[in-house]
Amino acid sequence: MKKYKPYDVLKTKKINYPELSQEMKYEVSILGGLDIFTDAHVQGVVDITTRICEHMKMDYEYLKHCVLGAYLHDVGKIMIPNEVLQKAGKLTDEEYEIIKSHTLHGYEICMKYKETKQYAPVARWHHESFDGSGYPDKLMGNQIPFEAALVKVADVYDALTRKRQYKEGFKQSKAIDIMLGDAKNNKMSAKILKYLVEDVMDELYLKIYTAKKNIEQFEDTIKILHDIEKIYKEIYDRGYSEKLNKKLKRYELAPGYDMSANANLLISKQKALEKERERLKDLLEEEQKIQSQYAEVCEVAKNENWYPKTKYYR
Ligand SMILES: [Fe+2]
Repeated sequence: MKKYKPYDVLKTKKINYPELSQEMKYEVSILGGLDIFTDAHVQGVVDITTRICEHMKMDYEYLKHCVLGAYLHDVGKIMIPNEVLQKAGKLTDEEYEIIKSHTLHGYEICMKYKETKQYAPVARWHHESFDGSGYPDKLMGNQIPFEAALVKVADVYDALTRKRQYKEGFKQSKAIDIMLGDAKNNKMSAKILKYLVEDVMDELYLKIYTAKKNIEQFEDTIKILHDIEKIYKEIYDRGYSEKLNKKLKRYELAPGYDMSANANLLISKQKALEKERERLKDLLEEEQKIQSQYAEVCEVAKNENWYPKTKYYR
């Protein structure tokens, strides 16, 4: 008999986020009043974590574990005073220490309930680095639990690319560049980063495809508008003829079709076309950069052995 699987991530690839999120909400309902489901950064980290896990072809149960860890990774921030948490300027050393303590607070909160205990390691160790330069415990290498290292990659990527009130988000290639540096310096996992880069490339390919389709469509529309303009001009110059009428009929224009509206539409479509061409140019540049970053991250990942026996890699 076929076994029922609620979400077959391996086959459908894309997870049904709202349902997954419902399931998560149920599991952490113990934290009831906590607003961990609407915070944009947490959602971003959850989303990226899920995508990395999908690329790893992780089994569903472990994927769920990692995603819940992502939901709870910053739960300790509820213990940090708002004026420190939301300070826009530079933090003092003392304030930075307070911020860093969210890892320990998060650990304590998770350890309080039997439902959330298993996510305590992610809450505590998602800021650790393989070289021992992280916090709060300065763990080294594979002392850091795999899921904490995974959420760290998602966390850093979201923080770098997310737009804030006081800063623009970095471009994807810029963020990957910084993270590649971290991976080379033994601060984060190149193996995990590799899967993130794969996902970013997938997303980029889709955007490139859409941009190309949009451009084709704009070009088609512009051609038609030019055509109509030409026909009307001929009518204006030489008067109506059966031939020109026939040509016009092809476009099924409403009676009294307005040529100034046609001209305006032409201008706006041309502007849109230019914009989309610019966007495609940017996307192709990004693709070039990320392609070569991918080659580099694969090289670094080859020599990384923090989790040699993990069953979660493809
Ligand atoms: Fe954090």
